[in-house]
Amino acid sequence: MPQLAEAVDPIAATARLGLSSTQKCLPPWLFYDEAGSQLFEQITALPEYYLTRTERDLFERHADDILLSLECPVTIVELGAGTAAKTGILLKAATQFQPGVLYQPIDVSPTALAEARESLERHLPQVVVRPQVANYVTDPIRIHREAGAKVLALYIGSSIGNFSPADARAVLRNLRSQLRPGDALLLGTDLAPSPCKTVTALLAAYDDAAGVTAAFNLNILDRLNRDLGSNFNLDGFRHEARWNPAESRIEMHLASTESQQVHLPANSAGPAVTLDFAPGETIHTENSYKFTAETLASLLADSGFIPARTYTDSKHLFAVTIAEAS
Ligand code: AVJ
Repeated sequence: MPQLAEAVDPIAATARLGLSSTQKCLPPWLFYDEAGSQLFEQITALPEYYLTRTERDLFERHADDILLSLECPVTIVELGAGTAAKTGILLKAATQFQPGVLYQPIDVSPTALAEARESLERHLPQVVVRPQVANYVTDPIRIHREAGAKVLALYIGSSIGNFSPADARAVLRNLRSQLRPGDALLLGTDLAPSPCKTVTALLAAYDDAAGVTAAFNLNILDRLNRDLGSNFNLDGFRHEARWNPAESRIEMHLASTESQQVHLPANSAGPAVTLDFAPGETIHTENSYKFTAETLASLLADSGFIPARTYTDSKHLFAVTIAEAS
């Protein structure tokens, strides 16, 4: 044993805790290692995964209207910006109404932020990118405010859907605490089933024919094998997407196809453990909450925002809401 306390690896600690619960679970942030981030990029282009495409169309159609509804000048902050693929549409619109735009993307991935900066500064020279490597869930959100500018905070891509209603409120309140009355939030949310949106279509978005989402889900086990030296057999688990109507969420699980044991070696978070799986037993890997007009309105109101306008597609698949800090 080392004399000095070793720093506890957050991946090891999280995996140990989740896999020793009665309902085994792993948090969705574990999906996004390099392979997982690439698989997610592929998901966003799948025919079944309507979310990214629909939100991009809404931005293309309404960017001017969104920007015109705010007082000029604005500085744009984005939570979980990643490579900011869709954000360029909004930034480009902003440059039509003011000479320069300060864009402050916040993300845990420095490589994604570097890519965002490089690509935006090349395509939109009027945009100044000031990236911030931070975790917007656990760290305070720091915003650089230019004299006289309003803040437009972007939280798009249905990222809020990964959080329970209580945690979603905590994230938006953390953001709200850094805003002033008159600043705005642009929130992208996926919508619950309705007469034009079937549960079947929703499930297909999380269980595509090409098997990319299955590979994305299973990659979490591969990642633990790589990072923690566990011995998950990927052929012994099956991807499962479920619609949970009581919670209004899609759940992703990995179901054990047989009775099996998995070894997790000793590490900074604890001693070696053997995990037992019964046939059909699952690891719950993700929740993706789907909103109604009512649940969206109460989320915003409870977090200190007043919805000003919601843009949605003709089939009511996805919503983009502009809300004012109250
Ligand atoms: C990145 C959280 C928006 O919930 O749709 C996609 C992640 N999981 N396919 C979502 C995801 C499976 C995605 N978010």
